[in-house]
Amino acid sequence: MSLWSRHKIFETNSIILLIGVLIVIAIGGLVEIVPLFYLKSTIEKVEGVRPYTPLELAGRNIYVREGCYNCHSQMVRPLRDEVERYGHYSLAAESMYDRPFQWGSKRTGPDLARVGNKYSDEWHRDHLNDPRAVVPGSIMPSYPWLAKNDLDAEHVAEDMKVQAALGVPYTPEMIAKAASDIRTQATTDAPNADDLVKRYPGAQVRNFGGSPQRVTEADALIAYLQMLGTQVDFKLYDNKANVR
Ligand code: HEC
Repeated sequence: MSLWSRHKIFETNSIILLIGVLIVIAIGGLVEIVPLFYLKSTIEKVEGVRPYTPLELAGRNIYVREGCYNCHSQMVRPLRDEVERYGHYSLAAESMYDRPFQWGSKRTGPDLARVGNKYSDEWHRDHLNDPRAVVPGSIMPSYPWLAKNDLDAEHVAEDMKVQAALGVPYTPEMIAKAASDIRTQATTDAPNADDLVKRYPGAQVRNFGGSPQRVTEADALIAYLQMLGTQVDFKLYDNKANVR
């Protein structure tokens, strides 16, 4: 019996053909999927990307709580119009510590992936309090309670523990110092700011929210916004690459 006549078994019996198809697809699937489980990381490491400071992490949680992602994406796509409007397209590594990620798919407002250092803290305070005060005709909702509410700094350490269990490299020291790091980053009379910046290179330390003695939700959210897209020094990339 030649090879071709054996093929007839498959062609004349639909169940055997089906089983054969399933076996072939299963092998193809395994070849594609199994190696991924043995890779330590599928994301290229990029210099400058660090875990969020406790204050930024708390701000990120407020961003999620308030549903900012319903109107704002955080992913600049590698298309010419996007790069010209927002800056360098997003790298995978820039959201490697985002759990859950905030890429989003809805842009009622502009993309925020590169909004860090674009405006002053005052601008953000006014804008969050009443967007129409700085952008006439804006349809963004007001969030006047952010500057009034004290930040719940108590549970940030627990959040960091969960993030660490998911693979974000928070050390026990970082977790233990979460509450004091929040005060240090958001108030002006910070004695151990150098210590904080050593743990979180490039962290911006100042009174973001406008009330120097208190740490408010506005402090956390504005610290988060001012950090977005600033971790990677794209001058190094843009000189080499043909982005613009
Ligand atoms: C209903 C949709 C909507 C929601 C929800 C929303 N925004 Fe906006 N946002 C907009 C629109 C529209 C603009 C553009 C007009 C303006 O600047 O106010 C904008 C602009 C912005 C800008 C300025 C961006 C730039 O590059 O000029 C920032 C920052 C911002 N929003 C932050 C936030 C934050 C933080 C939240 C959550 C607390 C939020 N937005 C929730 C619609 C929204």
